[in-house]
Amino acid sequence: MTEQLILVTGGTGMTGSRIAHRLRARDVPVRVASRSSACRLDWADRTTWNAALAGASAVYLAYAPDLAVPGSDDVLTAFTEQAARAGVGRVVLLSGRGEPAAQRAEQAVQRTATTAGLAWTVVRCSWFVQNFTEGQFAGAVRAGELALPVDDVVEPFVDADDIAEVAVAALLDDGHAGRTYELTGPRALGFGAAVAEIAAATGRPVAFRPVPLAEFTAGLAEEGAPPEVVELMVHLFTEVLDGRNAAPAAGVQQALGRPATDLTDAVRRSALAGSRA
Ligand SMILES: NC(=O)c1ccc[n+]([C@@H]2O[C@H](COP(=O)([O-])OP(=O)(O)OC[C@H]3O[C@@H](n4cnc5c(N)ncnc54)[C@H](OP(=O)(O)O)[C@@H]3O)[C@@H](O)[C@H]2O)c1
Repeated sequence: MTEQLILVTGGTGMTGSRIAHRLRARDVPVRVASRSSACRLDWADRTTWNAALAGASAVYLAYAPDLAVPGSDDVLTAFTEQAARAGVGRVVLLSGRGEPAAQRAEQAVQRTATTAGLAWTVVRCSWFVQNFTEGQFAGAVRAGELALPVDDVVEPFVDADDIAEVAVAALLDDGHAGRTYELTGPRALGFGAAVAEIAAATGRPVAFRPVPLAEFTAGLAEEGAPPEVVELMVHLFTEVLDGRNAAPAAGVQQALGRPATDLTDAVRRSALAGSRA
């Protein structure tokens, strides 16, 4: 029997780092892999895949920069095939809600895993609360104003710690094979309301300002964001955030038997709440 070793791709990112932390706390052997990790894995460089997969019994798949990038389904098909050849028994895919390209990637992983005899689980997530507190928009929140090209759309922001707990359960326990969990927070909130709750929870003054898309993309370009990042943001704000994902889903309750964490509670635990600098 293969010894237990969990490969966490994107293991330095928002979800992967939480998963690796939880697995280590349970004394489960973990290998973190990303471009900057001791075990170097680059989705764009297939020569790095074998070393990352060697000896792994299960894999957390967090594709970067985003499943919306054309060809992500092909890369994940090839990686899952290689994982099967390396003796991996189980994969857990991080995916995005209401995104056609992400759903194509899910199908590619499900199909390939099923054919190769691997168990699979999909964690299909809404917008992470942590985008505001440690991800792309944390700098603006810290600086006191978040300007985004959204108006009254609502989103049930999900806590990355909830995602990590579901992923860990799916990586370790047999009962989650073949399941697709829709992971969201318990309440849908507009961005203005979310920012107001973040301000209250952290004790920081933070304003929200809706801006036209052109102003937003010009600002990103000015800050030096590469064109592909600008393109991803346009896709996110024009297609994904059109209200299609407004309804909260029951994935956290289904997977963990407890309610999803509220945005305010997730923000109170964040570093942003701990430091006022
Ligand atoms: N943020 C959201 O609201 C949201 C919602 C739903 C789904 N998602 C999905 O979440 C995924 C990102 O996961 P995350 O938010 O946990 O991570 P993250 O915080 O965005 O960090 C990205 C991770 O991937 C690694 N990475 C970046 N480019 C890579 C490459 N070319 N090859 C290998 N590793 C690479 C990074 O480390 P290095 O820099 O060291 O390589 C890092 O560990 C994306 O697929 C996105 O579609 C995000």
